[in-house]
Amino acid sequence: MPGVRTLLGWTLTWGLFGLLLAAPGIGESMAKQDPVRVPAEFQKGEAKFNTNCARCHGERASGTSQGPPLVHKIYEPNHHGDLAFQRAAASGVRAHHWSFGDMPRIEGVTSEDVTEITRYIRWLQRQAGIM
Ligand code: HEC
Repeated sequence: MPGVRTLLGWTLTWGLFGLLLAAPGIGESMAKQDPVRVPAEFQKGEAKFNTNCARCHGERASGTSQGPPLVHKIYEPNHHGDLAFQRAAASGVRAHHWSFGDMPRIEGVTSEDVTEITRYIRWLQRQAGIM
């Protein structure tokens, strides 16, 4: 029975080769997909964040030239608890981690608003593996 071994060898070799060729393509098509949809329970927070915070902290809290990303290890719940978000919005923040300057107190957001915003940001952080 000549050939069985050879055939197996060929199948394996070309099979693997095919996978290698296909793999980067798979990665690419996944990267191009839209980011995960914001679950309904966090959409209120998202809207309030976009109105009050995104001009500095960026879309999906990814940062801008005016302010840092909040989806960042230093803002994980253990380092900056939910109270830090309340304090930041109510009283502003003296620049200490970055060189964007101070964050002003944010007018027109209630502590309930900030609670919603914080829940949204915690969700974004979990999506990024920051817990
Ligand atoms: C005018 C720009 C601006 C806006 C608007 C803004 N921030 Fe900030 N924020 C900053 C900057 C700059 C820092 C970083 C200060 C530093 O260097 O640590 C910051 C830091 C923070 C921190 C970290 C606080 C800490 O204890 O270190 C939190 C939390 C935060 N912002 C939440 C918010 C929330 C919530 C909103 C919307 C209600 C908001 N920010 C709107 C500029 C802004």
